Amino acid sequence: MKYLILGASGQLGKEFVRRLSSEGFPFTAFSREELDITNSALLRERVVELRPKAVINCTAYNQVDWAEVEYERALQVNALSVLYLAMICREVGAILVHYSTDYVFDGTKEDLYREEDSPNPLNKYGWSKYIGEKLLLSFGDNCLIFRTSWVYGEGKQNFLHKLNEWVRKQDYLRIACDEFSVPTSTRTIVEVTLLALQKGLTGLYHLVNTGYASRYEWAKEYFKIKGIKKFIYPAYQHEFNLPAKRPRWSAMSNEKICKELGIEIPEWQAQLKEDLKWFINL
Ligand SMILES: NC(=O)c1ccc[n+]([C@@H]2O[C@H](COP(=O)([O-])OP(=O)(O)OC[C@H]3O[C@@H](n4cnc5c(N)ncnc54)[C@H](OP(=O)(O)O)[C@@H]3O)[C@@H](O)[C@H]2O)c1
Repeated sequence: MKYLILGASGQLGKEFVRRLSSEGFPFTAFSREELDITNSALLRERVVELRPKAVINCTAYNQVDWAEVEYERALQVNALSVLYLAMICREVGAILVHYSTDYVFDGTKEDLYREEDSPNPLNKYGWSKYIGEKLLLSFGDNCLIFRTSWVYGEGKQNFLHKLNEWVRKQDYLRIACDEFSVPTSTRTIVEVTLLALQKGLTGLYHLVNTGYASRYEWAKEYFKIKGIKKFIYPAYQHEFNLPAKRPRWSAMSNEKICKELGIEIPEWQAQLKEDLKWFINL
């Protein structure tokens, strides 16, 4: 299978490039500088010229707070350009893999979120991702969408990177103990995505590591594994007064994708321990 990776310099894009290179799979990868997905003419030109079998869209407008003021841009990157990409993929007979978010949910469920639960985003970023999903699902059968959460890997758009910055600058940390989801490794996402592509899956799935945690628990576990001695004070989400509202509870179940592929996805704690031997910048 020939792959095309878009958003190759983001944390998920980097992990796809690393994995596909190490396994000797044929692929082409473009960073935003090389191919901006909002440039529809160039996007079409590149996809038609390369004729990949699978396009893996790792691009995203991911700035949750900024999306409150730059909604148009978020919508363009996370929804409208993705629909156009799906149309080009259909033209060349490619599957489009796209990633969405747990922030499509409002946090009112008292159990793990499943694929059949109704979204109700609390912020503009969540809306832009939800609209992206809806457009793809209504468009047709050449799309595979994975909702994921609290993604970390080799990059800066993650909580562990922020923790490291705070450790350097602050005497103690204040981390929300009332915001729950699932820390998810880019290595898990890549592994499962490649299996799903081999099996020819399409549709919508939740792709997260197993279990769930509060941000506070995630930070404590990270410090324990890394041997970082810094006091973490449990705080409440509202104390941070962030522009975008976040769901307090958005942990998702990975049962559907596990059943479909006949796999087990590691618990987030075990995955994190393994990853810290692997990701040099975490
Ligand atoms: N990070 C999380 O916690 C999280 C949680 C839930 C879901 N997700 C989803 O998981 C997927 C992967 O996210 P990630 O964590 O790998 O994000 P990331 O590290 O922020 O990577 C996103 C990449 O998209 C690129 N990009 C932005 N606008 C673009 C455009 N117009 N054209 C082309 N490229 C563009 C960015 O380029 P620049 O670096 O140049 O800006 C960046 O390299 C996304 O769909 C995201 O919404 C992430």
